[in-house]
Amino acid sequence: MTHLDKRKNIYLVGFMGAGKSTIGKILSERLNIDYFDLDKEIEKAENREIKMIFEQNGEEYFRILETSTLNHLSSSNKNFIISTGGGVIEREENRGIMSRFGKTLYLKADINTLWERVRHSKHRPLLNVDNAFVKAKELFNKRKDLYEKSDYVVETDNLNKEQVADEILKIID
Ligand code: S3P
Repeated sequence: MTHLDKRKNIYLVGFMGAGKSTIGKILSERLNIDYFDLDKEIEKAENREIKMIFEQNGEEYFRILETSTLNHLSSSNKNFIISTGGGVIEREENRGIMSRFGKTLYLKADINTLWERVRHSKHRPLLNVDNAFVKAKELFNKRKDLYEKSDYVVETDNLNKEQVADEILKIID
């Protein structure tokens, strides 16, 4: 672990619909560093969609995969952007991994903005319930203080994706 420069490893965190994957790709191109999407890496390793993992093995099993994949990606790469799933900050172990290997950046948006972006999504098992908006608000309220503890916070409500990337490039060293 010599020469680890934590400023060069960025974890994008935030609620479902925050734009973590979209912004992650833009940033990795602009900074010319590697990009990983944590959910996609889990899907590749399992050879099935997140939705199927939830259906067939349950959320707890998914959370175990999420932590081991986060740990593996973080320890076997250098200079990266990783977009995480919205629930990653809930586990203390995940927060420990992210602070050990890099900096967290919260893509902050209002729950109403987020809801508009995810309400028609079919691949988010946690919102595939009756009263999904109530569920989304509950989850958001449970998590928001943890998101706020990130190393950087960028308010995205009134920005387009390129402007969000511009903002991020200004605040990271
Ligand atoms: C989850 C968010 C999803 C995915 C899984 C659980 C969550 O990722 O990891 O469905 O707990 O909020 P996105 O935030 O990319 O939708």
